[in-house]
Formats: sequence, C-alpha cells, structure tokens
Amino acid sequence: MGVEETGHRERPRDISELPGVGSTIAAKLREAGFTTVEAIAVSTPQELSTVAGIPLSTAQRIIKAAREALDIRFKTALELKMERANIKKITTGSKNLDALLGGGVETKTITEFFGEYGTGKTQICHQLSVNVQLPPEKGGLSAKAAYIDAEGTFRWERIEAMARGVGLDPDEVMSNIFYIRAVNSDHQIAIVDELFTLVPKENIKLVVIDSVTGHFRAEYPGRENLAIRQQKLNKHLHQLMRLAEIYNVAVVVTNQVMARPDVFYGDPTQAVGGHVLYHAPGVRVQLRRSRGGKRIARIVDAPHLPEGEAVFMITDYGIRDPEE
Ligand code: GTP
Ligand code: MG
Repeated sequence: MGVEETGHRERPRDISELPGVGSTIAAKLREAGFTTVEAIAVSTPQELSTVAGIPLSTAQRIIKAAREALDIRFKTALELKMERANIKKITTGSKNLDALLGGGVETKTITEFFGEYGTGKTQICHQLSVNVQLPPEKGGLSAKAAYIDAEGTFRWERIEAMARGVGLDPDEVMSNIFYIRAVNSDHQIAIVDELFTLVPKENIKLVVIDSVTGHFRAEYPGRENLAIRQQKLNKHLHQLMRLAEIYNVAVVVTNQVMARPDVFYGDPTQAVGGHVLYHAPGVRVQLRRSRGGKRIARIVDAPHLPEGEAVFMITDYGIRDPEE
C-alpha cells in the first residue's frame, strides 16, 4: 500500500468538514449554490464572504482548505513521475487485450468498455472482479472488487466459473466482491459516495459500474434531455475520477451503444450515444463481435496507447486469447 493512499484518507469531502465551516456557514453556502468542496475551491474570497456573511480572511482560509483538500497546488515534475509510478495494472485474462491496454486495466484511471449488446462488456467486468484478486505475479493486485450492477446482469455463477479458471477458490473469490444493485441514477451516485469509505477500508482496487449510462438514459430520454443528462453524467464521472485517483483504484465502466445500420462508411457504432468519457480523462475501449465467437477490441483516441486491435474470446472459464 503506497504512502499516498493513507495520506489522502482524512481529506474533507463535504463542505461542512472544511475547517472554519460550521453548520450555519455550510447552510448559507449550500443555499448560494456552493454545495461541493470543488465549487468552493474555484470561488473567490469576495464571493464567499458576501454569500455567507463571513469576513474576507475567513473566506480566504476556507478556499485554501478546499484547494488543499483537492490537491490543487503546484507539483514538481518529480512528484508527477512518482504519482504515475504508483499506477498498477489488472490483467483482463487475454494477453492480446492486455497488450492493447498497455499491460492491463490501470488504476487511477476510468476505463470505459463500450459496444453493442453481447459484445462482452459484462463478461469483462466479471473477469476483472476475479483477476484483481490474483497476486501481482499473475496479473492481479491481491485486492477486492466493488461491483455496481445497474442492469441486473451480474451472475455469481460466472464468477465461480472464472475463479476456477484462474485456479482461485470460488467461495473466497465471491466473498471478496462487494455487490450492489443500483436502482436509479441518484442511487448510483450515492453508492459511489459511500465507496469513498468502503474502498480504503476493504482494500478494494477495482470498482465496476455496469452500465454507467443505463439509468441516466432511461431517466433523461431523448434529445431534449441531452444537456441535463450529460451534465449529471459528467458530475458522476468526476466523482469516479476522484475515487480512482485518491485511492489508486481502477474504475471500469460499461456503456451500451447501438449500431446505426444507415451508416455505410466509417464506424457504424460511432454515431449513436457515443462514448461517455468524451470529455473526461480515461481510456475508451470499443468492442465488437467477429466471426467464430471472437471479439475485437479497439482503443479510441488515446495517443499514449498502441494503435490497432486485439482479438479475444469469451469461454466458459472467462476471457481468453483465441486458440492459435
Ligand atoms: P449488453 O449488456 O447487452 O450490452 O451486452 P454485453 O456487452 O454486456 O455482453 P455480455 O458481456 O453479457 O456478453 C454476452 C456474451 O458472452 C454471450 O453472448 C456469450 O457469447 C458470452 N458468454 C456469456 N456467458 C458465457 C458462458 O458461460 N460461456 C461462454 N462460452 N460464453 C459466455
Ligand atoms: Mg452487459
């Protein structure tokens, strides 16, 4: 466990936890729209002082505390290098897919698997929940997983089979996966809030959300709700990004996109829905079906990763390379 993880644990997440913000000031700030530590970090002392009726010097102190809480400060290039060095990788079970991802699914990053139905998004989520438990020499992190199921497609039977497939004890593997069904988008967001406590407490190194978009699409349908939907989703993704960075965990999300049969050139799955990480940092992996039960993965706009495609299979024991 790296030093940086313990160092971040006590950081205030709610504005009322910031030094100098009592319940009265917190209530005034919330009323004025400063509901998050982020909002306070980017405000000016004049603004805060006016809306909360506090002295300028107090406002300055609160803003400084908010910025420190979010780690907004000058860092040396060496610090940046050390932060990168902490990144760990989880094997997908397919060497081809791992190579495409630069060694596996990374911690401190959101990885989005997107594609049509049946392309293997949920199977990959199951496999990673098992593989994160492997020891490092076998491509894991000897850690646990949190699985947020928004679609009701989690199957413990698959976990059992995949655990056997990598030679781990199935019951032990299943007891190391914290499962929860998200019933709507607000619940999904509240669950991630809770993870800020659960993740460090339980040595969780993988957080799965399958799918991250389903509830948002259902609750904010159509073109007329696109702006509000994207706004809510972006907030959710930032919450996830913070979780990934603070606790050095891998966040894996899925997103179903529909093919457009009317698009005859270029990429037929590109147009509808698109990938959710469009404006957020992270790795986007497009999946599609191929002949003979094979699946093809492709990384979308990630200049630091190798170009090209990876072919993998879904077997009874999980994600594997195709037989030669
Ligand atoms: P949506 O959630 O509908 O968007 O699809 P998805 O991308 O999540 O697909 P999913 O990961 O559920 O993949 C389903 C496919 O995995 C099936 O069509 C099968 O090809 C394969 N699969 C699922 N379970 C098994 C299994 O036990 N054995 C084998 N060999 N393949 C399986
Ligand atoms: Mg699925």
